[in-house]
Amino acid sequence: MALPRNETSVPGWIIAVIILVNLALLVPPMLVAKSRYATSRSTRIHVFYDMDQQQKFKEQSANPLFADGRSMRLPVAGTVARGDLSQDEHYRWGTVAGEWATEFPEQVPVTAELLQRGQDRFNIYCTPCHGISGHGDGMVSRRAEVSDYGAWLVSDLSSEKGLAHPIGEIFNITGYGIATMPGYRSQIAPADRWAIVAHVKALQLSQSVDIAEIPASDRERLLREKALSGDKETGAKPQDEAGSDARQGR
Ligand code: HEC
Repeated sequence: MALPRNETSVPGWIIAVIILVNLALLVPPMLVAKSRYATSRSTRIHVFYDMDQQQKFKEQSANPLFADGRSMRLPVAGTVARGDLSQDEHYRWGTVAGEWATEFPEQVPVTAELLQRGQDRFNIYCTPCHGISGHGDGMVSRRAEVSDYGAWLVSDLSSEKGLAHPIGEIFNITGYGIATMPGYRSQIAPADRWAIVAHVKALQLSQSVDIAEIPASDRERLLREKALSGDKETGAKPQDEAGSDARQGR
């Protein structure tokens, strides 16, 4: 018996399901392909974690575990990191019995090496603002002069005010700053900061010394250079010369 034709053909809804299932089967390979070639900000799917990723608090994030809600913890008050005990106020702070020290601490002998090291460190850390000669004509200061950042004018280390700072205070300034100057204790270790102080004192001395105090050989050289630079007034103090050089440099 011949069946009617429409009863032998596959029903339309089954064909529709087959097409849909086949289309759906294309989705997983497409997702795999996308994950392989697209970039994403989230972590890739990681079936076995091993120890690649662990739970942790990232820096600057909140942590409900502590009353102050910070995940970055401060050292417990009163604790001192190993090797960081600073009981020597002269060496660490530049003070003696609460007053600015006027001498170098005993563990810092002022030698030619110390001065050399101090010049080296000064030229790295201080000259951007204070200038090679300390007159306050470093690049930052020069820039401040021609821009609107007037507050950044840097003082002359050999000015009356600069000369008035005792050795210990200069040391403290290198570490903790003064007024608008930031401190450099996190970059420069105390030994190097003392070396810098030695160089600052040498700079100050070199700019106010009387010409009669200079050793004869150097005095001759100085007078010769002064004559060469076209300055006829040979009796002038080197300070005047340095001052005029600094002004020309600006
Ligand atoms: C970012 C610029 C900057 C750097 C770098 C800098 N200083 Fe200063 N310093 C200043 C400014 C600005 C002042 C003046 C602060 C004020 O009195 O307003 C100053 C003042 C001083 C003073 C006091 C002078 C005075 O007239 O009272 C001393 C000493 C000094 N600096 C030493 C140093 C030494 C040593 C270094 C290198 C370790 C250094 N500074 C690096 C900007 C700087």
